[in-house]
Amino acid sequence: MDADQEQDVLLEESIFIDSNDEKKGRIVILTINRPDKLNALNKSVTSAIKKASKRVMEDETIRVVIFAGAVPNPPLEGKRSKPNSFVAGADITDFKGKKSEEIFEIFSDNCWEAVWKIEKPTIAMIDGFALGGGCELAMSCDIRIATNRSVFGQPEINLGLIPGGGGTQRLTHLVGYGKSLELILSGKFIDAEQAYSFGLVNHVCAPDELRNMTLELATTIGSKSSHTLKIAKKAVRMALNSPIDEGIKKELRVFSDLFDSEDKEIGVTAFLEKKNPEWKGR
Ligand code: COA
Repeated sequence: MDADQEQDVLLEESIFIDSNDEKKGRIVILTINRPDKLNALNKSVTSAIKKASKRVMEDETIRVVIFAGAVPNPPLEGKRSKPNSFVAGADITDFKGKKSEEIFEIFSDNCWEAVWKIEKPTIAMIDGFALGGGCELAMSCDIRIATNRSVFGQPEINLGLIPGGGGTQRLTHLVGYGKSLELILSGKFIDAEQAYSFGLVNHVCAPDELRNMTLELATTIGSKSSHTLKIAKKAVRMALNSPIDEGIKKELRVFSDLFDSEDKEIGVTAFLEKKNPEWKGR
């Protein structure tokens, strides 16, 4: 797989946070582009996601990263159209004949972890199927916004498998032990409203509202100090790994450290002078 092909399976679009001031940075939408296979994650896609995750971290102009799935192509004559998908899972054809050691190696350095490790805010913009590795990709993002026709599930059990892209852990953190096990043990699909009631998605909207709603939230987030956003994400992540007493102590440390940042002084001064802050990102 050469670089050009990898670019084809992961499209990149940039939107400036403030079109009058490019220095305010940009939002990047990364679109998984295999609509004929419901955007299933094959090796080219996972490799492109891993590379892009590194790239967006290094690029200081990027404030927020959005993941999306490509819309279906028009159907071939006489064929039915493919359904809308965020990502319908890992590419199942890649599982045939594979043995444990090979899979262990492939999954040890995986795209879900790469997305999870992006230190900037990430949003999954979901329209359609978010199944298996697709649901896991959405859960590797910080925030999930879905259309009312979206469908979620961890159907690996139907393949004699369990989630391997962090699903058993991230789903449990998001929806709790009982609902997580119900989804993973049954393999059943849930609709967007159920996903919302479970706490799996943050917002549900009509398909024609998805892009605007996502960009509006991304713009709001992206207009904050990039330095403070990074610390905020790190602090909330600590809640996943620490008992609460320890987490609160750690929060005090990172909160206090922010008082040595330039952006804290900029933010506080701007508030007191009734001006908009001009963040420095440090
Ligand atoms: N891996 C590889 N190919 C996939 C895929 C996956 N996870 N999900 C869908 N596809 C492919 C189908 O094989 C089909 O390819 P084809 O047109 O060349 O035959 C194409 O995408 C369209 O899917 P299709 O099954 O025809 O659509 P549908 O509307 O009948 O059903 C789903 C949609 C999502 C219910 C069904 O595709 C499905 O169950 N997919 C697998 C979901 C899954 O188990 N994910 C977890 C994997 S670990």
